[in-house]
Amino acid sequence: MEKVDVILGLQWGDEGKGKVVDVLTPRYEVVARFQGGPNAGHTLEFNGEKYVLRSIPSGIFQGGKTNVIGNGVVIDAILFRAEAEELAKSGHDLTRQLCISKKAHLILPTHRILDAAYEAAKGSDRIGTTGKGIGPTYTDKVSRNGMRVGDLLSPDFEAIYARAKARHEKILQGLGYSYDIADLERQWFEAVDYLRRFRLIDSEYFINDALVAGKSVLAEGAQGTLLDVDFGSYPFVTSSNTVCAGVCTGLGIAPNRIGEVYGIFKAYCTRVGAGPFPTELFDETGAELRRIGHEFGAVTGRERRCGWLDLVALKYAIMINGVTQLIMMKSDVMNDFDTIRVATAYEIDGKRTEEFPYGITEGLNPVYTDFEGWKCDLRGCRSFDEFPAAFKRYVEFIECETGVPVRIISVGPDRGETIVRE
Ligand code: GDP
Ligand code: IMO
Ligand code: MG
Repeated sequence: MEKVDVILGLQWGDEGKGKVVDVLTPRYEVVARFQGGPNAGHTLEFNGEKYVLRSIPSGIFQGGKTNVIGNGVVIDAILFRAEAEELAKSGHDLTRQLCISKKAHLILPTHRILDAAYEAAKGSDRIGTTGKGIGPTYTDKVSRNGMRVGDLLSPDFEAIYARAKARHEKILQGLGYSYDIADLERQWFEAVDYLRRFRLIDSEYFINDALVAGKSVLAEGAQGTLLDVDFGSYPFVTSSNTVCAGVCTGLGIAPNRIGEVYGIFKAYCTRVGAGPFPTELFDETGAELRRIGHEFGAVTGRERRCGWLDLVALKYAIMINGVTQLIMMKSDVMNDFDTIRVATAYEIDGKRTEEFPYGITEGLNPVYTDFEGWKCDLRGCRSFDEFPAAFKRYVEFIECETGVPVRIISVGPDRGETIVRE
């Protein structure tokens, strides 16, 4: 019986998961998303074209593979339809390549409004969500009030919707939040009809049957470990389990069915939205990382905050996920840097620690190790041997500190700009 290999982010999202899933998909027969929703923006570049996926797995561009949206995902029918229709234009018949779990939850128009209303109510403490209704949808799931994709098949679908909407409207009234969803609601009902064209499956049977039949499965994470609802920088997190355990609950597979765990990180660090970020740079170097790395949200265009690589956080993420192989992205962004810094510990109120603390507060200062920059263009390199010695030292330091091999190194956004060390 095969196992499910997992790709997930080890930082605050946007590590480059979409690119790597696309690169690795030829090795797999099934690619499955297990959590998150259209808060994700996964970018893929090949043949001079750029695509951004939100809810659809990043295996979709490699022909002949089955892509699954698992039960742990939340789906906005309107955004899903827009994404699917865009892909159909470029010749991808999703009704053949994509299956959706009946147990995945639906994001309702009022969930989006609630997301905005909760953020407004938090004022200066706002999380800076993507505004896609993610938190309110997962809240309804856990409080047993959610609507699932399987409800699309029920004759009571409209009544279930009306009850959910009425409940949300009461909350919105209580918050004194004014809104108009007439147009959004019309679009949503049309989009929900569109969803009915897809294969709606019991994805837990689908995935387990695939494994029994000897098929290889790749699970694609969204967001990153430091945005996990349990282990991230709470409350500045998303509302799902982005960590490896989320693969079991988000696809319906047992823990002993997990195979390789690929942990992706950028050679530096970024974060979108509010919340602590110990190695954040507010200076010219931070601005350079943002400019050279094009660190703006794939969907929202929001500026990403930038800083140095944080090994305290990375080691924490590796521990929580049981990472077996590391994948380092965007090293090319630092090609011209004289010095590259890596946080190897924190000093909290004068005391040194290598553990990721419960809360990240004002009194925390990263302790850095400095590296000489490699000062050359990595984008032309196509094997590890071609890398300059200074860059190899950087990679080997990370491997030594974490105890996990860096197996894939990405040196540009294109599919081809990827070095796989066998
Ligand atoms: P994801 O959410 O983890 O899939 O990542 P995003 O797509 O949100 O953000 C990653 C960004 O970095 C995208 O714009 C990619 O095209 C780009 N990218 C990925 N890998 C590399 C790389 O190695 N070098 C450079 N310069 N850009 C990269
Ligand atoms: P991908 O999959 C980066 C962040 C938001 C916000 C917090 C909560 O592309 O890596 P939410 O809308 O989920 O309730 O927002 O999480 N966030 C992401 N940051 N990449 C993402 O996805 C993200 N998805 C959510 O900015 O801080
Ligand atoms: Mg992204």
